[in-house]
Amino acid sequence: MKARVFAPVNVALIKYWGKSDEKLRIPVNSNLSVCLEKLGTETTVEFKKHLKRDKVVINKKKVSGREKDRVVKHLDRVRKMADIDWKAEVISENNFPTGVGLSSSASGMAALSLGATKAAGLDLSEKDLSRLARLGSGSACRSMVDGWVEWVKGDSDKNSYAKSVFNKDHWDLKILVVVLSQKKKKISSSKGMAEAKTSEFFKTRIKGMENKLRKIKQAIKDKNFSLVGKIMENEALNMHAVMLTQRPSLIYWLPETVRVMKAVQDFREEGSECYFTVNTGQNVLVICEEKNEEKLVKKLKNINGVIEIRRDRIGRGARLFT
Ligand code: DP6
Repeated sequence: MKARVFAPVNVALIKYWGKSDEKLRIPVNSNLSVCLEKLGTETTVEFKKHLKRDKVVINKKKVSGREKDRVVKHLDRVRKMADIDWKAEVISENNFPTGVGLSSSASGMAALSLGATKAAGLDLSEKDLSRLARLGSGSACRSMVDGWVEWVKGDSDKNSYAKSVFNKDHWDLKILVVVLSQKKKKISSSKGMAEAKTSEFFKTRIKGMENKLRKIKQAIKDKNFSLVGKIMENEALNMHAVMLTQRPSLIYWLPETVRVMKAVQDFREEGSECYFTVNTGQNVLVICEEKNEEKLVKKLKNINGVIEIRRDRIGRGARLFT
């Protein structure tokens, strides 16, 4: 009753910020992301007969409190589905900085969903795995699926899940992860998102979402890099406009974050086309075409405050190690 899995980080081009059902984690709007090839979480889950309590180790540290509760709750969902009561040992490792806006809860919960169901002897469909991951952390449902992924919002537990809209080989764009600080954010996405509706801009944001999603899917289909980039960057700023004006206000950026965002816009003017997006944290994700990658890595490295650049590309969803 043991399984070892890998689940990728995913980067949202069209964001999820606001739930219509808190408990079921149903998003207010459908959204879209890409899975990364390298950045992600490796997790081993083992159900053991004589274990008294679940044991959870994340990044080599035994966790307790709220962090552990979230994992145990998810294990309970799987135990219920498989009709077992054995406790589990979960060992999970991220190959990237955690809690700094790089979606560790997405890759972590996706890995836990696949690992725990496999270890429990279940063989769920991709859709059902995505639905299960969603209950652990909304954006995790997108890390279950290959390549370019749409999370169709739906309106119930049954029909809110992620599906692949283009596979990873559709278009080989590069994603540069700009690490600015390892300092953990103070307010989690879940907590921050719960107040999204207090921004007077929230309603306006949501009104434009369906149209935006339709436009970006067409641009991805046409491989129109400028249009995809423009929509993505504008969408990130749109979400942050809501965050900034929520009550209480959420400012996830550091001065360095703004520095990188402005530099990206300058690089574009100088002829190296690239676009940014930012989640709930200080670090910046930059998207570019292969022809500009080397040049941009050098330019980004030179910005004051940049610790490292992780190079990545579009990859598959969660999978089992055999
Ligand atoms: C800003 O999926 O972490 O990264 O469902 O409450 O666990 P919960 O939230 P989570 O939120 C991610 C928010 C985001 C945008 C996105 O990835 O779409």
